[in-house]
Amino acid sequence: MKFFIDTADLAQIKEAQDLGVLDGVTTNPSLMAKVGISGEAAVTKHYIDICNIVTGDVSAEVIATDFDGMVREGEKLAALHKQIVVKIPMIKDGIKAIKYFSSKGIRTNCTLVFSAGQALLAAKAGATYVSPFIGRLDDISTDGLNLISEIRLIYDNYGFNTQILAASIRHQMHIIDCAKLGADVATCPLSAILALLKHPLTDNGLKQFLEDAKKFA
Ligand code: G3P
Repeated sequence: MKFFIDTADLAQIKEAQDLGVLDGVTTNPSLMAKVGISGEAAVTKHYIDICNIVTGDVSAEVIATDFDGMVREGEKLAALHKQIVVKIPMIKDGIKAIKYFSSKGIRTNCTLVFSAGQALLAAKAGATYVSPFIGRLDDISTDGLNLISEIRLIYDNYGFNTQILAASIRHQMHIIDCAKLGADVATCPLSAILALLKHPLTDNGLKQFLEDAKKFA
């Protein structure tokens, strides 16, 4: 299972990269706005800065919602760095754009996916990644994890290569459950990745070991 970090915060990206378990980064316009990045030049520089911190894939989202606009923006983004994956929203023109990019060998991440039907379309169009937003489904009292298992079943039935990138992850149990269900990637806030480290018995056990070690120092 790959771990991506879901942020545009360079300090957090660096912290996750330094941990040695990071496989990539996902961003979106809201995450960019959260760290105060706006305007084409600043956004472009920020993507390059991210690519220089990590070694894996970096999802960069188009703003256009029409086919021509998405193709224009996506081609520019893909040309920025070999690690860039073009993030495209799950809309009609988005599916056409994913198909276009797939035929040109440009990798894509189909975002804002909330149903198995949408995930099936994204795979048929040749998306590299599909991003089901599990937390936002949970927010409206719908089982986000169930969507992961439905997509896994459908993709396995037909051997689709599209990777399931579980997104909108809110806590460490989402990561564990996604791992059990066979998601290929989880994109997580840093807090959820770090929470995987924690267990009170680890802390108590280590405290005891260190106290005992002093007896023989
Ligand atoms: O990767 C998608 C993610 O950024 C959305 O997460 O927490 O805004 O639902 P959230």
